[in-house]
Amino acid sequence: MRSGMHLAHLSLTNFRNFVRLEKDFPIGPTLLVGANAQGKTSLLEAIHYLSYATSPHTTNDRQLINFLTLQETTPVTRIVAEVRRQDRTFEAVQDRPFDVAQDRPQRIEIRLILEPAGVVGEQRLRKEVLLNGIKRRVRDLAGLFNAVMFLPQDMYVIEGPPSERRRTLNDALTQADPTYADALSEYGKVLSQRNALLKQLQERNGDPDELSFWDEQLCEYAATLVRARALALSELENLAEPIHQDLTRGMETLRLKYLPSYHPATYSEGQIGLPMDTAVDLTSIGRDAIRSGMSTTLERTRQEEIARGMTLIGPHRDDFSFLANAIDLRLYGSRGQNRTAMLSLKLAEVDWLQQRTGEIPVLLLDEVLSELDTERREDLLTRVNAAQQAILTAADLGMFHQDFCKKATMWKIVGGTVSDLGI
Ligand SMILES: Nc1ncnc2c1ncn2[C@@H]1O[C@H](COP(=O)(O)OP(=O)(O)OP(=O)(O)O)[C@@H](O)[C@H]1O
Ligand SMILES: [Mg+2]
Repeated sequence: MRSGMHLAHLSLTNFRNFVRLEKDFPIGPTLLVGANAQGKTSLLEAIHYLSYATSPHTTNDRQLINFLTLQETTPVTRIVAEVRRQDRTFEAVQDRPFDVAQDRPQRIEIRLILEPAGVVGEQRLRKEVLLNGIKRRVRDLAGLFNAVMFLPQDMYVIEGPPSERRRTLNDALTQADPTYADALSEYGKVLSQRNALLKQLQERNGDPDELSFWDEQLCEYAATLVRARALALSELENLAEPIHQDLTRGMETLRLKYLPSYHPATYSEGQIGLPMDTAVDLTSIGRDAIRSGMSTTLERTRQEEIARGMTLIGPHRDDFSFLANAIDLRLYGSRGQNRTAMLSLKLAEVDWLQQRTGEIPVLLLDEVLSELDTERREDLLTRVNAAQQAILTAADLGMFHQDFCKKATMWKIVGGTVSDLGI
C-alpha cells in the first residue's frame, strides 16, 4: 500500500512576497509556472519550513518576513498548514513507537514574530509553533510533515563549507528521528553555555571545575548525534549507491564518508593517534563508547579550549565527504558531476525517509528539471509520479511532456498570487 502524508491546505501571511495566500493543495504532482521573481522558490521554501522550521537555503529567518511589514512595531509572519495522512498498515509504523497516525496533529502553525528587544531600535525574532492550536516547542515538529527539497544550487552542499553538509544531515535526521531533534536542540544550548564559560575562563574569571557539568551534558548529546549521523550516512550511502550507478550509467560509484570532528576510534583507549582515515566502521561503535571517549578527550584538550575560549571538538564541527570513484568531489568534482551526486543523495533521502517513517515525503523540486539531460529528467519524473505529492516549479512548460501536464495540476504564479494555469 502506498502511504504518505500530504499538504492539504496552506495559508501564508507576510511570508517573503506572499502578503496573503490561501490555497488547497491536491495529491499527486502540481506544476507551478511563473516568470522570475514571482515567488516559486519562496512557496516551496514555505512548505519545506513546515518540516522543522528551518529554511533549506537561508541562514537568517528574518529574511522570511515580508520586508514591507518591517516598519511595523511587531511584524508577524504566519505559515499555517493542514496536513492529512492516509491510514497505514501496522507494519509500516511498528518501528516508530511514538507514531500513531490517527492521533497526530493535523494543523501546523509556525509564527515568526519580530518584537522590540530591550534596547531601543533593536528587534528580536521569536518563533512560535502551534500544533492543532496548542503551543509547542519547535522540536515537536519533528516527523509531522516530511519533505525533501531539490534546489538548482544543491551542488553547493558539496562545494561549500561544512555547515552546508551539516545542514543537509540535520534536515534529514530531524525529520526522521525525534530523539535526534531533541539532542540537536539540547546540544546547541549546552554548547553556547559551555562556550560562554570558556570565554570567561579565557579572560581569567570563573571556576574551571564548572566545566565538568557542561562537559558531561555535551558528551551525552554529542554521542546521540554522532551515532545517529554515522548510521544515517551509512544507510544513505547504501541507498544512494545504486541510484548513482543508474544516473551515471555505471560510470561512477558514490561513497559518503563521515568525518566526525571527534572520532571515537582515533581516541579510544590504547589506540591514541590512529590516523583519521583508519578503516574503522563508525557504525559499530556504541553510544556509551562515544560519550566516554569524548569526555576523556575533553579533559585532555581543556587547556587548549580555555586558551581559545571555545569548544573545539564535537558535532558542531562535523563534516562528511562525497567520493566518486574514490575521488573527493569537493576538491575535484565538475559542476555536472556534483549536481548528479547531490541528486543521488536527495533521491536516497526520499527512500530513506520512507524506510524510517513509513511515509513517502512530499517532494519539492525547484526548477531542477531544466538542469538535467533528457534521460535523467525522465528518471526524476518517474520518482515524482511515484510520490504521494510533489510540487515542481518551472519558468516555462518547455521541458514538460504533454502526458505529464495532463496528469499534473497546473498553476501559475504572478507576484505572490497563485491561480489555475488554464491551458
Ligand atoms: N522578505 C521578503 N519580503 C518581500 N519580498 C521578498 C522577500 N524575500 C524575497 N522577496 C522577493 O520575492 C520575490 C520572489 O522570490 P523567489 O525567489 O520566490 O522568486 P522565483 O519565482 O523563485 O524567481 P526565480 O525564477 O528567479 O528563481 C523576489 O522578487 C524577491 O526579491
Ligand atoms: Mg526561484
